[in-house]
Amino acid sequence: GWRTPYLYEFQGFWCQSKKIQAIISFQKHFISRESDVILATIPKSGTTWLKGLVFSIMNRKHIDVKNLKNHPLLHSNPHDLVPFFEYKLYSDNQIPDLSRLPDPRLFATHIPFNSLMQQNSIKNASPKIVYLCRNPLDTFVSSWHFVNNLRPKSLPPFQIEEAFKMYCDGIIGFGPFWEHMLGYWNESLKNPTAVLFLKYEAMREDIVSNLKELAKFLGCPFSVEEEQEGVIKEIAKLCCFDKMKNLEANKTGKSIKNFENKYLFRKGEVGDWVNYLSPSMVEQLSQIMEEKLAGSGLTFKLFP
Ligand code: PPS
Repeated sequence: GWRTPYLYEFQGFWCQSKKIQAIISFQKHFISRESDVILATIPKSGTTWLKGLVFSIMNRKHIDVKNLKNHPLLHSNPHDLVPFFEYKLYSDNQIPDLSRLPDPRLFATHIPFNSLMQQNSIKNASPKIVYLCRNPLDTFVSSWHFVNNLRPKSLPPFQIEEAFKMYCDGIIGFGPFWEHMLGYWNESLKNPTAVLFLKYEAMREDIVSNLKELAKFLGCPFSVEEEQEGVIKEIAKLCCFDKMKNLEANKTGKSIKNFENKYLFRKGEVGDWVNYLSPSMVEQLSQIMEEKLAGSGLTFKLFP
């Protein structure tokens, strides 16, 4: 199909060539269960954060809130605890045996909804899917920084203008971004017990009610006692940007091949795009969002 130097068009989305084999293998071999939980995002929309939060919620029976010293998130990067199908489990021609993992199993993916549904067992088992969405302006800025960080020093930096043009044309890993969001958004409207649609900005604004909604969706709601003991706030604190960024496990190591964990934690802010996008870029992207998301009910508040 269509290609750029880095990305190929595959099943209707843009994909790094080296990921295609892993996705095909995942689609062919994964055996899903109804009890599975799958975290879905487009890159740079808060995946690492979501992994930490959901892992903590699902495993909280082992956490002593007053003594968090032994919590796995203090010693491991979230990507080690919640593996991606396409970056970890099915990469490098592996076919992992996931049958012995205890239920409920927790996985993650960047694959768009339509391609996820080409995985027959997921389609049939209907596991729970949590989608985290971030406003496209911040996601773009975050991606651009990330790509530049990974770029070999021998190459000139990736100019923001060039990256922006590609983004507006839909050319970004797993994009176009609007199709990625709308795939999961529309399904969450049709099938709210199967797909929970969350927004990064809303989580920043009110983490407690979002965590309550998450736990309820996952079938393990917080009890009144837990709430009174401060369990929800402890989980939020454990996973907050400053805490995570400064952990040794996140300052060092490579939990995903090819890049260091430290690049997963840049600023963690809402609205950092004002520092990078020109007024005409903002106008252009706002127009694209308006056009592409029109009638869907999915909106983003760009200005507080
Ligand atoms: S990846 O590679 O797709 O898994 O990256 P992802 O985690 O989706 O996106 C990275 C951006 O998320 C910010 N981040 C966080 N925000 C809030 N809380 C926590 N704990 C957190 N951890 C990472 C990270 O800083 C990237 O955003 P930017 O805007 O670049 O800072």
